Amino acid sequence: MYESDDEDLTLCPTTLAALNEFLKEKEEKENQLKYSLENQNLNVSFDENWQLSQFWYDDNTTDTLVKGAIKCTESNGKIALISCPTLYSKLKKNCGERQVTLFEYDERFKIYGHDFISYNYKFPLNIPRDMSNSYDLVIADPPFLSDECLTKIAVTIKFLAKNNIVLCTGAIMYELAERLLNIRICHFVPHHQNNLANEFYCYSNFDFDKMLL
Ligand SMILES: C[S@@+](CC[C@H](N)C(=O)[O-])C[C@H]1O[C@@H](n2cnc3c(N)ncnc32)[C@H](O)[C@@H]1O
Repeated sequence: MYESDDEDLTLCPTTLAALNEFLKEKEEKENQLKYSLENQNLNVSFDENWQLSQFWYDDNTTDTLVKGAIKCTESNGKIALISCPTLYSKLKKNCGERQVTLFEYDERFKIYGHDFISYNYKFPLNIPRDMSNSYDLVIADPPFLSDECLTKIAVTIKFLAKNNIVLCTGAIMYELAERLLNIRICHFVPHHQNNLANEFYCYSNFDFDKMLL
């Protein structure tokens, strides 16, 4: 028989205190997120979720990619960010009249309102049709170092991009990336807040390094 009386459910005081502390922190984070959603706050920061293969750039890398993105687009240009959400807020603060769109799987980034497009690389063309060939620059950082993931994200990149492409991904993806997108390794090397085990490169189909001088 399955017994469930009150005695079974009693927690010891230490466990109960830890549980209450956890629930309080969770509620605070949810409230902060709700507030940001309502107020379009760009300063909210998100923890990495390794289940989603999230490895955030360090500050220097974010600054460098943002600087390059601004320099290589016209003042009224359009920039697409695919699966690189940490670039969004800094870019948005510094990009003037440029339009920035974030294509991302993690729905926490919905706080960016109309600039957020829900995106799953497994369905690479499941995005608004009228976005075809409309971005002056596309920056992408695929979640997985697999041929399947890069091949599908490349479909999205080619669909969105007018011309300029920047891809940040592992060194082992070099040959496929070059073949799919006609891109080359940059001198600039992206780094992460938490060191990655894999060698990591930035690739582009134009002289992105020149934009960083
Ligand atoms: C390797 S991280 C790149 C993050 C980047 N370094 C940054 O700092 O913004 C990969 C990104 O892909 C997203 N992602 C995870 N699963 C995905 C999926 N199925 N489709 C598209 N993006 C996905 C993650 O949420 C994460 O933002």
